[in-house]
Amino acid sequence: MTERPLIAPSILSADFARLGEEIRAVSGEGDARADWVHVDVMDAHFVPNLTLGLPVVQSLLKATELPLDCHLMIEDPDRWAIGYAEAGAYNVTVHAEAAGDPIKIAKDLHAAGAKAGLSVKPGTALEDYLEVLKHYDTLLVMSVEPGFGGQSFIAEVLEKARTARRLVDTGHLRLVVEIDGGINADTIEQAAEAGVDCFVAGSAVYGAGDPGAAVAALRAQAARAGTAG
Ligand code: DX5
Ligand code: ZN
Repeated sequence: MTERPLIAPSILSADFARLGEEIRAVSGEGDARADWVHVDVMDAHFVPNLTLGLPVVQSLLKATELPLDCHLMIEDPDRWAIGYAEAGAYNVTVHAEAAGDPIKIAKDLHAAGAKAGLSVKPGTALEDYLEVLKHYDTLLVMSVEPGFGGQSFIAEVLEKARTARRLVDTGHLRLVVEIDGGINADTIEQAAEAGVDCFVAGSAVYGAGDPGAAVAALRAQAARAGTAG
């Protein structure tokens, strides 16, 4: 595990007309401060939904000092991912199902100064990507079908988190195990027990009255469950 659980609020559930303010709501001090801000880029092709792209990410980078964790749910990330790294995103995650040459993508992202993330949809097996993952800094395990916030957590994917945790703990992989989809007070403990390091939460943070307090509460819950497990 990383030293403490990382919480990455997803602005997919924020008010898109007030993104700067919404990020400031999770930029406070101490436990209420998000570790990363998760930005869901959707192209209406890889997933049925359409959100935002590079111009908005460039503006967000000027509006916050928090690291941006860009989750690209797009086709042809071989062509488009590099732009997010060059813009200054901290971590750029592409989907294994969409990537043509994932090892080259990771190398390109690193050369542009970003960390590289690989995401797998709920039905995608980890086994096919174990060699590829040696080139990656984060593994984003999707615990819902990508495309929309507010869906129910698919607990079966925790087996992939456990496998990744084991491979990291035994030195076969060096990456942050991240989970995305349906993470809230009812589900975060089982994810923490499975060995997840970083928790993306959209509706659980931005659906709360006080997003900063929600970040603090989720992190505390994950920390308790992670150390108990
Ligand atoms: C879904 C996105 C998620 C989404 C999570 O495709 O990748 O990041 O914002 O939202 P919640 O936490 O509401 O499931
Ligand atoms: Zn996401």
